[in-house]
Amino acid sequence: PSCVLAYSGGLDTSVILGWLQDEGYDVHAVYVDLGQPCEDRKAIMQKATDNGAVSSRLIDAREELCRDFAFPVLQWQAKYEGIYLLGTSIARPLISKVCLQVAREVGAVAYAHGATGKGNDQCRFQLAAEALDPNVKIIAPWRIEEFRNRFPGRTEMIDYCDVKKIPVKASIEKPYSSDENCLHISYEAGKLEEVEVNGLEIVDFGMGVSPQEAPDKVEEVTIGFESGVPVSIDGKAKSPLEMVEGLNEIAGRNGVGRIDIVENRFVGMKSRGVYESPGMTALYAAHLSLEQLTLDRDLVHLRDQLAPVVAEMVYYGFWYVPKMDALLAFIKEAQQPVTGEVTLGLYKGNVMIHSRTSPNSLYDAEIASMEGGGSYDQTDAEGFLRIMGLPSRVAGTVQPREY
Ligand code: ARG
Ligand code: SIN
Repeated sequence: PSCVLAYSGGLDTSVILGWLQDEGYDVHAVYVDLGQPCEDRKAIMQKATDNGAVSSRLIDAREELCRDFAFPVLQWQAKYEGIYLLGTSIARPLISKVCLQVAREVGAVAYAHGATGKGNDQCRFQLAAEALDPNVKIIAPWRIEEFRNRFPGRTEMIDYCDVKKIPVKASIEKPYSSDENCLHISYEAGKLEEVEVNGLEIVDFGMGVSPQEAPDKVEEVTIGFESGVPVSIDGKAKSPLEMVEGLNEIAGRNGVGRIDIVENRFVGMKSRGVYESPGMTALYAAHLSLEQLTLDRDLVHLRDQLAPVVAEMVYYGFWYVPKMDALLAFIKEAQQPVTGEVTLGLYKGNVMIHSRTSPNSLYDAEIASMEGGGSYDQTDAEGFLRIMGLPSRVAGTVQPREY
């Protein structure tokens, strides 16, 4: 039988590539490029075929990640547990989708990945895969006891690679584990497991400087949106990926977008994570500011109620489900008027709003003004408040409150 493997070229998936062959599979290695750092992609793919993969493919899904996954989540202003921008979570369903497209093409019956049995990633890979191909057999070696017994630690994995002549770079073991794509880098495990230590000091961040190291000067950047979709930086049109990469650069050099949190995993335990997402942090702030100008009050309040639901679904991995289809249709419709430009001031980790403009602005200075005039008649508030206060007057009479 044949199997596709979500392959990164690292130690784990290199071992899994060998092990799947030991188990009798023809393995097709799929490297889904989401902007993770990789010195030599060609070499990694060559390594897969050298190590017995029937085929190896690199598929660039970076634009799709930004356009069809990250941007709808941004439009929802979805943040898991109020803070995490979901940079790893949202990438997982796309990895499954790309791998299953390859599986269909090559006629593979199984889909293997290297996520552990303790984490969120296995949930996202699998829930997406089951929705897209209900018949696919999912192989998560780290959930198989036999595999874990065979590879209790890094040493055994490196020994295995030696025997199989799989080249593994003698990479210096980092004091934590990280996951990177163009949206963010996450850092977890190892030294970061001690919640009392300062994660911001332990981590060697990859996307920008610390607020302390950032320039002593505010940097302005203007971000343009069309119907809730980020489309330009300082007036220059950009693709979704260019938007994210451009803002990673600008916000990163100003120390924007680092957080250190303790989060609740879908599998139940609390885990500590340090994240950096400079560009997306700037985008969330700019987008929210433009919504303030352009969105109807009741619509945005409804959106705000549902945003934590969306964040939880993305975090757990329920992307390809009818509820999410409907939520995505809702946000697309809701975002229609969110067109315009926002100028941010970035300064040592802070994101400030300097200016916002929109052809669809609902803001009416005349109505809002504390000065008289405009179409708002203060006497109208008299009857409005008598009616709004009616239940309170009745209750206050029948069941008087102490005060
Ligand atoms: N805790 C984050 C999340 O669940 C990051 C997970 C990082 N995954 C990894 N394989 N290092 O989205
Ligand atoms: C893993 O367990 O593979 C990484 C952590 C996570 O998925 O939450």
